[in-house]
Amino acid sequence: MKGIVLAGGKGTRLYPMTKAVSKQLLPVFDKPLIYYPISVLMLAGIKDILIISTPEDIGAYEKLLGDGAKLGVNFTFKVQEQPRGLADAFILGEEHIGGDRVCLVLGDNVFYGQSLSAALERAVAQPSGATVFGYPVADAREFGVVEFDDNHNVISIEEKPEYPKSKYAVPGLYFYDNSVVEIAKAVKPSVRGEIEITSVNNEYLARGELKVELLGRGMAWLDTGSPVGLLKAAEFVEAVQSRQGLYVACIEEIAWRKGFISDGGLRAVGEELSMTEYGRYLLSLLEG
Ligand code: DAU
Repeated sequence: MKGIVLAGGKGTRLYPMTKAVSKQLLPVFDKPLIYYPISVLMLAGIKDILIISTPEDIGAYEKLLGDGAKLGVNFTFKVQEQPRGLADAFILGEEHIGGDRVCLVLGDNVFYGQSLSAALERAVAQPSGATVFGYPVADAREFGVVEFDDNHNVISIEEKPEYPKSKYAVPGLYFYDNSVVEIAKAVKPSVRGEIEITSVNNEYLARGELKVELLGRGMAWLDTGSPVGLLKAAEFVEAVQSRQGLYVACIEEIAWRKGFISDGGLRAVGEELSMTEYGRYLLSLLEG
């Protein structure tokens, strides 16, 4: 399975913070925001990862992530000239996806929790169709929202409804079979002028091939769309890390635990960062 991280957009809701810096490079406590979605792909066992960003910002992602060799993964990069919509990821990513299945994660989505790995495994194990998730939120108006019938069957997904028909928002983490490329190409722009991921999901639903897995209390899906959301996400990460002594979304640790890199590989990245607590944490993992 291939992975895509969509890390473009204008970030206007976070101006002036994002006037000169890409949103997904902003720090969430001790690491750039994009580490969090990348960690999700790596936890799903995905090693071939395409990063999509703007013409202005793509170079910064290349500088940050390199070719991925230090993590035992393969990063490639692609420019999105205009923020045409989330479904554009599959058109831009056509070559990267090839004949494979694909997981798209939005570069500004932060997930954490014990049930995450199992949910990822189930989605990866699905040989065809699509898997998306439903996550209960207090106010679903800003998201794709799942509508159920009386028997809890999904009957539609609505993008940013004024009156949400449930409290289940669809987070920015999507698994698709290879048909997604053709489906994305056929999507017509919405009233806001974007080719919506929700249209892709509704097409899978119409074909009877959409699985919506509901996520519960054991999972955190954090908002990074506002200054307060970013601050709260950082506080959450700090609280977990300092209490448990275990890092959230530490991509070097995940690479090592997944067997993508050896002890020597982890030592090398740890030593490179040994002037920081982050680097010392990596080195401490080798001590057991
Ligand atoms: O976060 C989950 C939500 O993401 C879903 O519930 C919605 O169904 C989905 O449409 C999307 O809603 P947003 O309003 O949050 O999408 P936004 O336009 O903010 O884009 C999400 C991220 O993707 C953002 O960091 C910018 C990036 N992006 C966006 C577009 C439209 C791109 O890189 N390229 C694009 O063309």
